[in-house]
Amino acid sequence: MNTQSPNRCSAWQALRALAAKPPRIADQFAQDPARASRCAVEAAGVRYDFSRQRIDTGVLNALVELLRQRGFDEWRAAFLKGDPINSTEKRAVEHVAQRAGNASLVMRQLAERVRAGRRVRRIVHLGTGGSSLGPELVVDALGARDTALEFRFAANVDPLDLERALAGADPESTLFIVVSKTFTTEETLANARAAKHWLGARDPARHFVAITGNSAAANAFGATDVLPIPDSVGGRYSIWSAAGFGAMCAIGVGAFDEFLAGAREVDQHFAQAVPAQNIPVLMALIGVWNVNFLSAGAHAILPYAHALRLLPAYLQQLEMESNGKRVDREGRPVDYATAPVLFGEEGTVGQHSFYQLLHQGTPAVAADFVVAAQMAGDAERCALLAAYAEAQADALAFGTTDSQVEPHRECPGNRSSSTLALQRIDARNLGRLLALYEHKVFTQGVIWNLNSFDQWGVELGKQLARKILSKGRP
Ligand code: F6P
Repeated sequence: MNTQSPNRCSAWQALRALAAKPPRIADQFAQDPARASRCAVEAAGVRYDFSRQRIDTGVLNALVELLRQRGFDEWRAAFLKGDPINSTEKRAVEHVAQRAGNASLVMRQLAERVRAGRRVRRIVHLGTGGSSLGPELVVDALGARDTALEFRFAANVDPLDLERALAGADPESTLFIVVSKTFTTEETLANARAAKHWLGARDPARHFVAITGNSAAANAFGATDVLPIPDSVGGRYSIWSAAGFGAMCAIGVGAFDEFLAGAREVDQHFAQAVPAQNIPVLMALIGVWNVNFLSAGAHAILPYAHALRLLPAYLQQLEMESNGKRVDREGRPVDYATAPVLFGEEGTVGQHSFYQLLHQGTPAVAADFVVAAQMAGDAERCALLAAYAEAQADALAFGTTDSQVEPHRECPGNRSSSTLALQRIDARNLGRLLALYEHKVFTQGVIWNLNSFDQWGVELGKQLARKILSKGRP
């Protein structure tokens, strides 16, 4: 498998030459009236429109050739086969295997018991990073269904977070779901201890479910209901595992199955489609073009759906923790850019905050618009939402067309974006969407020669905090 620096590949050099005079979006549309349909792929229920990217056939062909030269087919096969491609931790990477079937029987039964029982009224999910972002996104996007259970999340060690999650709760009817793969994450454990304290003399075994790869520590804490997270499933990829238990309690077992099934459809598509028709591969290639050849060091995630308002936060961890790396698989410093800074906000809210920079600012920012063809709610506001998504993508791509406009009003256009369109926001489509981004991240890791599955950069801060704490407060 190719572990050389990507910039040694002839395709990389070819892309560099093409980037000396990159295509203008407006020119591409002018030359090809069919561009809007030609530069779009529909698969696994999702439409990916990349017509507003600074890309033409020459660039696309060179990117596909780069993928070939990086040995992508071999890496993908190794990943899907369960080879230990997470080299620094000597682990396979098995989040795809987690969703190859439905969730485990134990998890389903426990979720059904919690949903059907009368004892629990409020569920408080304790966890951080991948042990929180996925479940919270699913619950926020899809809502609690056919249940009167209330759901709260506390991820921050700031006491206010848990305090708010517990406001109005009755200890007797509160269930804590503690999710921590390692069961050593200080913030989560501190919150779990505070929760235990809040329960008073009540038996923790009745009030805690633990989801972890460290069942001994969970048992020692006092939890007897323990569901496993396998070693080979990284935190930011763990929503498909028992870490999704809280989400299953909220949306129901059937909807959670749908969520997994949606991701599975994308897995098949990713495994089988040729690069030019493979949505996550195209997302990755276009990302590499923007980052490495058009100097876009930032990437905005712009979901035009309130239900997806937590998507930017989820993708921040997925992309930046996976590919925010400075050395390659061999430990050599890279001399090319890797993951861009990812940020975002739901549309239309973000329009009134940072879009000014997107339209007229100096840094190059690529954007993904995420839209749904069918939105729930009154037609007038849904039409407004859809119109704004399209208008913003067009404004970025084409800018102001009036040549007489004053400089401060001028939007130069030629700013890259793609649009991912779901049919509607439901469990299946959410599963599809998250799996698309996961495979995008994997593909970029192959091109950049990174181990996308470790996160050693987060360790130093933890060690230093322990040192500071051991010295005591001044
Ligand atoms: O510190 C980063 C991290 O390890 C993430 O990768 C992970 O999702 C999060 O912390 C939580 O870890 P755990 O599930 O072990 O508590």
